[in-house]
Amino acid sequence: MYIHVYKNIQAHKSTNQHHREMQKKTLSDISLQGKRVLMRVDFNVPLDQDRNITDDKRIVGALPSIRKVIEEGGRLILMSHLGRPKGKVNPEFSLAPAAKRLSELLGMPVTMANDCIGTEVMQEVLALQDGEVMMLENLRFHSEEESNDPDFAKELASMGEIYVNDAFGTAHRAHASTEGITHYVQTAVAGYLIEKELRYLGTALSDAQRPFVAILGGAKISGKIDVLEHLFDKVDTVLVGGAMVFTFFKAQGLSIGNSLVEDNKLELAVSLLEKAKEKGVRLLLPEDVVVAAELSADAAARVEPVTAISDGMIGLDIGPATIETYAKEITGAKTVLWNGPMGVFEIDQFAKGTFSVAQALADATASGATTIIGGGDSAAAIAKAGLSDKVTHVSTGGGASLEFLEGKELPGIAALND
Ligand code: 3PG
Repeated sequence: MYIHVYKNIQAHKSTNQHHREMQKKTLSDISLQGKRVLMRVDFNVPLDQDRNITDDKRIVGALPSIRKVIEEGGRLILMSHLGRPKGKVNPEFSLAPAAKRLSELLGMPVTMANDCIGTEVMQEVLALQDGEVMMLENLRFHSEEESNDPDFAKELASMGEIYVNDAFGTAHRAHASTEGITHYVQTAVAGYLIEKELRYLGTALSDAQRPFVAILGGAKISGKIDVLEHLFDKVDTVLVGGAMVFTFFKAQGLSIGNSLVEDNKLELAVSLLEKAKEKGVRLLLPEDVVVAAELSADAAARVEPVTAISDGMIGLDIGPATIETYAKEITGAKTVLWNGPMGVFEIDQFAKGTFSVAQALADATASGATTIIGGGDSAAAIAKAGLSDKVTHVSTGGGASLEFLEGKELPGIAALND
């Protein structure tokens, strides 16, 4: 089976977009029996103070590939990074909690190595039996991982006979374990999580059923310009939320009180509004917002229309009229993509906009729409709303899904066998 990766060749970035289809080999295309299978996963999971995993979505996401190798009698060596230990050994960033969680999920032992390279690790690798699993220690304990050092990549490569990349969340990084390594292995294929992510973020969106509605939120326009421009060629409607709306409002001459604004992006905001118009995309901004004098759980909050935000007030969520409008748009769509929260959902009184959007996505899914959460904060928000399993796909990528939605090539995927 091959997976299709849609890569944009943008001759004239904003106007001409063509899609080239590449074919990547997957785990289903190779024989695994008795082979040392070196698999890059993204077990960069959030941990609490006691080093308990607070969200194991990325480990669960890698299970289909992991199980496939075990069932076929491969000898599985997993490698990942966790956090940003900056090239130094730091037990706080050990992957041991991830290995433990994986072992619980699989119901079998997962051996934890004390490094990711070296003679001792190599001996453990060579002692693996068919169907056994081991986890290497954090790749980022070595600075050579992030600098994509060829010798380090070669040493990693020497541990396996087959290389599998299933680390979608890290596919936007050209690191030794994602890109460099592919130069030193014969077989480099995609795992099932990468295949699934590309199916939803790529194929489903390139060939979307209409109406296609995108919801974009977050604090800054600057982080979302490329996504917006890329989506203008695909979607019918964009619903905008989060603090980035205040840059649009200020650019239109409205007063925004003390709300967050990017003063150096005002012209850009105007040009984005014009571009949407040119492309025939309806770009909706909020009608009302929840404001407070300060960002705190006990600040007195109230709703104001966006045309009359009081001096000194900060906009922290979309208001009830906007929620109603956005929910109608979402439930009337056949394809919905969501990236970025509508407000400060970490604080209850500013969470309603984000959770209402999450609920509308769940409702749209129940009526047959394809609904895709583009990872990062929106994935955390839908999890907090308890609705992750009520939407079609929640991406395990943060930065990776954003870059993919910007139409960029992900080096970790591009490097795999065609
Ligand atoms: C992520 O969490 O987005 C990935 O694991 C990549 O992590 P990084 O941003 O530290 O490279």
